[in-house]
Amino acid sequence: MIAHRLSARRLTQLLGNWRGEGHGYLELASSIDLLVRDGALAPGTALPAERPLAEELGMSRTTVSACYQRLRETGVALTRQGSGTVIRAPRPSETAAGPSGQPFELDLSAACPEPWSGLAELGARGFAEHPDTFLTTGYDTLGRAELREAIAARYSQRGLPTSPDQIMVTLGAQHAIFLIARTLLSRGDRSLIESPSYPHAREALAATGALVAELPVGLSGHDAAATIETVRRTSPRLSYLIPDHHNPTGLSMSSELRTRLLAELSAQGGYVIVDETTAELTLRERRSVLPFAASAEHAHEEDRVLTVGSLGKTVWGGLRIGWVRAAPEMITRLEVSRRIGDLGTGSWEQVLATLALERYEEILEDRSRSLTARHRVLSEQIAALLPGWQLSRADGGVCVWADLGAQRSSTLSRECARLGLQLTPGPRFGSPGVFERFVRLPFSASEDDLVASARVLERAWAAAPQPGVLAVHEEAVI
Ligand SMILES: Cc1ncc(COP(=O)(O)O)c(C=O)c1O
Repeated sequence: MIAHRLSARRLTQLLGNWRGEGHGYLELASSIDLLVRDGALAPGTALPAERPLAEELGMSRTTVSACYQRLRETGVALTRQGSGTVIRAPRPSETAAGPSGQPFELDLSAACPEPWSGLAELGARGFAEHPDTFLTTGYDTLGRAELREAIAARYSQRGLPTSPDQIMVTLGAQHAIFLIARTLLSRGDRSLIESPSYPHAREALAATGALVAELPVGLSGHDAAATIETVRRTSPRLSYLIPDHHNPTGLSMSSELRTRLLAELSAQGGYVIVDETTAELTLRERRSVLPFAASAEHAHEEDRVLTVGSLGKTVWGGLRIGWVRAAPEMITRLEVSRRIGDLGTGSWEQVLATLALERYEEILEDRSRSLTARHRVLSEQIAALLPGWQLSRADGGVCVWADLGAQRSSTLSRECARLGLQLTPGPRFGSPGVFERFVRLPFSASEDDLVASARVLERAWAAAPQPGVLAVHEEAVI
């Protein structure tokens, strides 16, 4: 089988300002390795032929050749007849290893808190109280009635009246985003996403063959006039937004902009995925957050919103329960589309989710308390050790966006990997080549790990070389 071949230009864009002082094959190999770990280069991708890549990078062919040899030796790539050097699928035991093959000691690549401490107790209760769960076939593409009722009731409590027929339970938010994108978008359609944003949502839009336009979000949030202007200009069929505690900035959209944006999007006949995966994780105090769809001034506007929620960040990432809230006809449409791809959500996980929702206020209180403390620790450490960095003023969520003041995100990330800290560089959150000046810092790890990570960041920043002469493709891609 011939693998998908990456062009030399595209790989150069993805590499961003990777180049340091050494300009050596080891450095190039470790940058490509980072792209694989971050998911920017999928297993099975064929790397460009050596000569065009050498020309694009302005290096000798011998250096590129030595780099590919290194990638094969370290198991990142392999030689496949007819395809050349191809990225290899990592074995599960390797996925958490650093460049030296040792496991990473610290991880700031995932913005994901540990399981909620009461989860085991919920499991024991579930087994004792719901033996009936195991009497069904277990195939369920819509969701158990009790869970859909509990999710709908929460929306109603939060100020958005909702009935169970507006809810479909999914295998997490990620699944919901992909399902909606492939149901509503076709090749050549226009879609819109904030930039930066959650990388897998961008992939979901792009995977349909749709064009992906961008809505800039800065360290101080959305520019209201520019946002409306971009929506008018692109007239997207489907948009993807994170209006509350946006990933990666942690910022929230103003209520005025929500109303205007929704009116504008629906006037153009578009739909919007509103990702509220982290909307209920508030910092400083536990606050109730009004769902985005409640900003609709008319019913037809509300029908354009497909809200995605999840227990992944509040209860546990390993509890693969998410949902979509939409108009009942849209739920039916999504369910029909879903059957092509999967056979449903596990009944047992839905039992646990229903029990977790009974205690959701307590869970959110716990999360809010610990994330507030962790956010404070991270902010203080960065202010003390890296005073030149500027952090976004997050009001919730699990991460902040740091402006480094210099285009060194990829080299920083590579240096961190050498020191045992896994860190996703800024360009992963936008189109290739942009956001070299930024890095996402999650604060979901323990306070001790955040203190240790900040020390590594300080060392890595001091050691990370300044970008070389290569000013690679900084243009925004629409
Ligand atoms: C904004 C956002 N949406 C969705 C997801 C995926 O959530 P889930 O674990 O429910 O699939 C994540 C996880 O990182 C996220 O940050």
